[in-house]
Amino acid sequence: MAKIPSRRKIIIDTDPGQDDSVAILLALASPDELDIRSVTTVAGNVPLWRTTENALKILELGGGTHIPVYAGSARPLTREPVTAEHVHGETGINGVNLPAPVRQPEALNAVDFLVETFRASEPGDLTLCVLGPITNIASAIQKAPDIVAKIREIIWMGGAYFEVGNITPAAEFNVYVDPEAADIVLKSGVKLTFIPLDVTHRALCTHQHLKRFAALGNKSGTAVSEMLQFSERFDLAKYLWLGAPLHDPCVIAYLLKPDLFSGRQINVSIELKGEFTTGMTVADWWGVSKRPANATFLRDIDAAGFYDLLIERIGRLP
Ligand code: BDR
Ligand code: CA
Repeated sequence: MAKIPSRRKIIIDTDPGQDDSVAILLALASPDELDIRSVTTVAGNVPLWRTTENALKILELGGGTHIPVYAGSARPLTREPVTAEHVHGETGINGVNLPAPVRQPEALNAVDFLVETFRASEPGDLTLCVLGPITNIASAIQKAPDIVAKIREIIWMGGAYFEVGNITPAAEFNVYVDPEAADIVLKSGVKLTFIPLDVTHRALCTHQHLKRFAALGNKSGTAVSEMLQFSERFDLAKYLWLGAPLHDPCVIAYLLKPDLFSGRQINVSIELKGEFTTGMTVADWWGVSKRPANATFLRDIDAAGFYDLLIERIGRLP
């Protein structure tokens, strides 16, 4: 008899961001496979108060008002904040005008929430989907290293190797903003999967894809099309490709359909002191360092399959 797959319990840690927003919507649209227990927010694309407000707005758009939002770290562990309004606009989700959220964030800080939640959970019960700088997770692990044994897995949109960098020539944004946090998480021994630019630069959202989102005819499809049209402008001008990368939804798609992706278990180290390379994910793809594997590093994606999944799922939402 075929085994009925159980719903995977997830916490989404995020800095919305248009692509974060699409990731949250994809998860909301997949209740048979994913049980979103909560959303935690972090400073990244825009300051924390905005990422928190955006998370609430997107949850309300997608019918997820029952999901609590916890605001976390307002700045990286040791460095000055770096934001990306030049890509995402002043609000972080420019392109859509969503109503002010009805629900408020919870009183508890996201870092304390993560510590309490993982301590109270069974080992392997909860998966962390990380879509921004990994500050909240590193802080929780620093406070309570015992939670590492409870975390089923972290899937993180972060890093780059063959594609090198997007915020500096050598570094991807989420790692660059808080490389010390990335280093702590990597060294904790937690099960970690990177979805780097090497994957997301192959998941290009073309004009045809935008038309398919718009043609869905629901509020969420229209919002996705409008938001991505805004955020794409910057990348289209930068890369001169026929579409712009769609980063964070790859994390949720990986949970839904891992066969769309391929990669290897390798050693990944974070450059913390480079003159030009701070925040670089030094990914030993060819195994030349003999350092032990400490992460799964994805390299490729079936982009057509990814967009078919994403568009079909967004079509299920309000
Ligand atoms: C990552 O940085 C942010 O701009 C996106 O939301 C994504 O998480 C891509 O480098
Ligand atoms: Ca993000």
